[in-house]
Amino acid sequence: MIFDTALPFSATIEPEEYFMPADPHSHGYHLPVLLSEVVEHIAPAPGKIVADCTLGGGGHSEALLQAGARVIGIDQDPEALLHASQRLACYGDLFTPVQASYHEIESVLQTLGIAHVDAILADLGVSSHQLDTPERGFSFQRDGALDMRMSPLNPVTAADLVNTASEEQLSIIFRDLGDEPAARRVAARIVRERANTPFTHTLQLAEFISTVIPKRSRIHPATRVFQALRIAVNRELEVLEAGLDAFTRAVAPGGRIALITFHSGEDRRVKHFFKDRAVEFIDRPEWPSQRKNPLYQFRLITNRAVVAGELEQRTNPRSRSAKLRVAERLTHN
Ligand SMILES: C[S@@+](CC[C@H](N)C(=O)[O-])C[C@H]1O[C@@H](n2cnc3c(N)ncnc32)[C@H](O)[C@@H]1O
Repeated sequence: MIFDTALPFSATIEPEEYFMPADPHSHGYHLPVLLSEVVEHIAPAPGKIVADCTLGGGGHSEALLQAGARVIGIDQDPEALLHASQRLACYGDLFTPVQASYHEIESVLQTLGIAHVDAILADLGVSSHQLDTPERGFSFQRDGALDMRMSPLNPVTAADLVNTASEEQLSIIFRDLGDEPAARRVAARIVRERANTPFTHTLQLAEFISTVIPKRSRIHPATRVFQALRIAVNRELEVLEAGLDAFTRAVAPGGRIALITFHSGEDRRVKHFFKDRAVEFIDRPEWPSQRKNPLYQFRLITNRAVVAGELEQRTNPRSRSAKLRVAERLTHN
């Protein structure tokens, strides 16, 4: 049961994610980050099967398909699947869209009769389209229902959390998932306010938070609280932990896993997951000699996270907080 993991999970915010160009639709549904780096590391080619576990607008998938690979495109958001399926229809049988959460990759592959894939890509978080669609409730700048669910199958909305979680729970969410210094104060004020007026809309919550947290910089005072709520609603860190184990089982020996993260809570998990599994022997002072690492399963392809170059950072502000890490499944473990 993966969702029993208790909060807290720490996640330093990277506010750039929230600074989209003035016309967010100028680049369409979503501009893929680190595209050439992903293609270089995954090396798509005819005969290879790649699972794009966060299909989104299909930008990464399209590059993989153009190189001749077969792509299994997974997303938990039916809107993303519809958009990407239309965009990628011209690739025919090479592209298979599937609505699922990426931690379910093994059952997705089993249903398709695929034992292992040659590479796995996950570009975590929300798409620009999701952030920019007011009705999805992710934005503190446009009014919409306080929803924030990526999947309609998720029974818990942000409004549910804000209106029913205890003061202690809210405080932990804001502190550990948003690194919000005023977490306790915001939680206490929300609990007092909601007794009279439940929170139902994004701007209502954003404006209320602005009365509790003074504006410290050009970052909107609600930025951290909104990010924390989004991560909590979608259980993003718990799903990531389950996903990393599932990816390890789903990728073929010699195959690669490429993961793009956007905040420190995610990146730390990915980094340690790969590092812990990329050493063959472990030495501890209390042991007479070093021992074989039972987790040894990967070769690190990127020793340090790959980040976007200057040009990409200038043209796509979202890329500023993106970190790509790639590891290769060993053939003999
Ligand atoms: C950053 S976007 C991916 C953008 C994509 N790489 C592209 O080129 O357009 C993240 C996508 O992952 C999806 N997503 C997030 N968590 C997921 C999960 N646990 N399972 C499946 N899809 C997920 C979101 O719905 C969103 O569409």
